Amino acid sequence: MSLRIAVFASGNGSNFQAIVDAVQAGKLDVSIELLVCDKPQAPVAARAQRAGVEAFLFKPKDYASREAYEQEILQKLREKQVDLVVLAGYMRIITPVLVEAYEGRMINIHPSMLPSFPGINAIGQALQYGVKVTGVTVHYVDGGLDSGPIIAQRALDVFADDTEETLAVRIHAIEQELYPEVISWIAAGKVSINGRNVTID
Ligand code: GRF
Repeated sequence: MSLRIAVFASGNGSNFQAIVDAVQAGKLDVSIELLVCDKPQAPVAARAQRAGVEAFLFKPKDYASREAYEQEILQKLREKQVDLVVLAGYMRIITPVLVEAYEGRMINIHPSMLPSFPGINAIGQALQYGVKVTGVTVHYVDGGLDSGPIIAQRALDVFADDTEETLAVRIHAIEQELYPEVISWIAAGKVSINGRNVTID
């Protein structure tokens, strides 16, 4: 039986699309059960509709607290028997409600070589710092900011004439290749966590 995943996203959804495309191309054997999106007008919501993926679209302002909407999300994840939560540009803080329920079963993609440049605008942070090499990290989610055990990283050179836009194009291309690949390793049972150390068989 295929691994059942939910993707959480807030914006463009190029990573969501890459996962959908990999599944449709037969390269990734998972079942995308749900898109969770906190911005109902975001392009990712239209992508889900086109792909025939059910979406839970919500507005945080309609809830009394983060925990309140996360409880509702958790209920949906349980109804759909979701095995793995895939954060793909989900721009909200995750509380212990979801982190604890999905400990070791929630992953994120971040556009830097963690632990460098966690948090927002990682590509801009790296450029401003002047690094010559940056990258993409896929990691498990813990209670901290982009701080969980690292599953995979890919590096790329920063060019002297790079802008945030040109660097982002190359970073996104790497993300769209790496994320479906990492999900396929998890789906195949190849990934194990031992403290901070993640091994791939
Ligand atoms: C990606 O750069 C990802 O690393 C970061 O947010 C961005 C999402 O892009 N977490 P998209 O919405 O998948 O196009």
